[in-house]
Amino acid sequence: MSERAQREVGRGFTTRAVHAGERPERPAFTPTVTPIYPSVSYLAADPESQDAIFGGELPGYVYTRHGNPTTRALEVAVATLEGTEDALAFGSGMAALLAAVLNEVQAGDRVVAARDLYGATQAMLANVFGTLGVKTTFVDVLDLEQVEQTLAEVRPRVLLFETISNPLVRVADIPALVALSRKYKARTVVDNTFATPLLVNPARFGVDAVVHSMTKYLGGHGDATGGIVATTADRMLELGELGKLTGAVLGPFEAWLTLRGVKTLSLRMQRQCENAAALAAWLTRHPRVSRVYYPGLTSLGPAECIFKSDLRGGIVAFEIAGAGQAEVFDFMRSLRICLPATTLGDVYTMVLYPPMSTHRALTPQERAAMGIGDGLVRLSAGIEDIDDLMEDLDRALLASGS
Ligand SMILES: Cc1ncc(COP(=O)(O)O)c(C=O)c1O
Repeated sequence: MSERAQREVGRGFTTRAVHAGERPERPAFTPTVTPIYPSVSYLAADPESQDAIFGGELPGYVYTRHGNPTTRALEVAVATLEGTEDALAFGSGMAALLAAVLNEVQAGDRVVAARDLYGATQAMLANVFGTLGVKTTFVDVLDLEQVEQTLAEVRPRVLLFETISNPLVRVADIPALVALSRKYKARTVVDNTFATPLLVNPARFGVDAVVHSMTKYLGGHGDATGGIVATTADRMLELGELGKLTGAVLGPFEAWLTLRGVKTLSLRMQRQCENAAALAAWLTRHPRVSRVYYPGLTSLGPAECIFKSDLRGGIVAFEIAGAGQAEVFDFMRSLRICLPATTLGDVYTMVLYPPMSTHRALTPQERAAMGIGDGLVRLSAGIEDIDDLMEDLDRALLASGS
């Protein structure tokens, strides 16, 4: 019996149940995979070290809202993939976006943001930041003249946009937008969720904070919600304070699942992009499809100058010819492989009807002004075999017209 076990022998049953076996000496082995550390608090060698860890003078962990070893492993992985000095994980993509913007503004400041944003991001800027006295002006970020005019007039603290927009997959000119942002002394915050660090690293062009909903491609399996901001070491410290005080941190179980997902990001994304490109080309020839949106097919945005490879992303949008909600619902009902689900980036192919979900809050006129018609479908390509996907979509498209 070990010395520790012997010490436990004379103690009461409940004391033994609570303490026996826990907190062994630090093991002399290194697990190949980062363990899940669910522990909320951490012991230090002595109170002086604990004090120094609390004060940030010594590396270490004291309380999981301040930092967690599993989450830290994920942060290091994403910072490495995005080519930034550091990264900080949050409980969701929205929490990461909130922190990235909140860190730059105070009451009375202004934000300029892309009109083509994920609906909840748009609502967060208008409602949450609006209430805090931070007003947002929305612009078409593909119209650089309009962006410059607005920046000159509004003098915002932040310019916010998505690398590839939702749902029409318009590609933003990151270098040009960063140059404008710098000219008017704004910080640039970019949501890189759709492109992933495999396709583009916005920080290489001078973007100040790169945000991901890790719920999507980074996790990749639809089983963990999370967000992250990849940025400089200084900004990461500021965000760390925000994370501590807002409590919007990522839990260790989700961090672990996401870290596992990240390991296969390039393999999944490569296949998803290939499937999306093949489906986009095939859809252009389908008799029930009147319009296809896919970077490279559309000339919307400078895909060539920002993507690191010839991959154009895993999202395709298309308009079912002459369709309204009823026909799109018939299409969705007829699918056998593609899932009519409200997320993207998973290994499963998923379709979404923007007027029902992401752009539900807008009127049909507002949607039309953004180019989102009543027959528009957004498809997130999964990793399935392409022939099965085409067969499934073909049957459902033909059913949408009957
Ligand atoms: C581009 C984009 N950014 C941010 C988010 C929000 O992420 P989460 O759902 O993880 O909060 C989403 C969610 O769909 C998204 O599509």
